[in-house]
Amino acid sequence: MGNIYVFDHPLIQHKIAMLRRKQTTAREFRDLAKEITMLMAYEATKNLRVKEIQVETPLCTTKAKALDGAEAAIVLILRAGLGMLDGMLELLPDAAVGHIGLARDPETKEPVEYYCKLPKEMPARDIFVVDPMLATGGSAAAAVDIVKNSGAKRISFLCLMAAPEGIQALQTAHPDVDIYIAAKDRELNEHSYIIPGLGDAGDRLYATE
Ligand code: PRP
Ligand code: URA
Repeated sequence: MGNIYVFDHPLIQHKIAMLRRKQTTAREFRDLAKEITMLMAYEATKNLRVKEIQVETPLCTTKAKALDGAEAAIVLILRAGLGMLDGMLELLPDAAVGHIGLARDPETKEPVEYYCKLPKEMPARDIFVVDPMLATGGSAAAAVDIVKNSGAKRISFLCLMAAPEGIQALQTAHPDVDIYIAAKDRELNEHSYIIPGLGDAGDRLYATE
């Protein structure tokens, strides 16, 4: 069974408050999204596998731990997931990166897939699926479906903001996936936007509205 982690770290809470402000510019929004993701990534990578190696210090030889297995993969959901990529890569600089293009149909709110390119050797990797917003959960569940169809087994999902409905939907669809959430919000509105939320994450990242 996967776990759900909601961060209560003061730095994350402060940066989330700045992210929500409607006066925050796209440039500031991008910086904040990167910083929050980086702080979350430290926790989300705590179960990466390590192996014992020998290293030579300037003084002697010693045992040490190093990451084991194939490099991790970051799989982002376009387009807003791009806002979390740099924060993940700060801690996992050698990770492979996959892109899944999903856009919510404005009427049905169902995700529509328009692009998918995943790294090789997915079954051997630890996978971190990222998207700032977990609203109805439809996009996240669809992205994890795609990742699982590639053979991946160890999958975590990271988002900046989640509604209870989305958490429930993702957990029901994929009970084995760990979910990392910077801020758990109150509800969805009639347009399936997260309340209080931050508005449209893609538009805020790229000043497209
Ligand atoms: C947003 C967001 C998620 C999705 C969440 O993307 O980045 O992918 O909505 O909603 P859900 O949980 O109800 O599926 P959007 O479809 O607006 O596309 P964009 O990133 O291209 O703006
Ligand atoms: N997508 C967003 O960008 N924001 C929401 O609140 C819900 C879906």
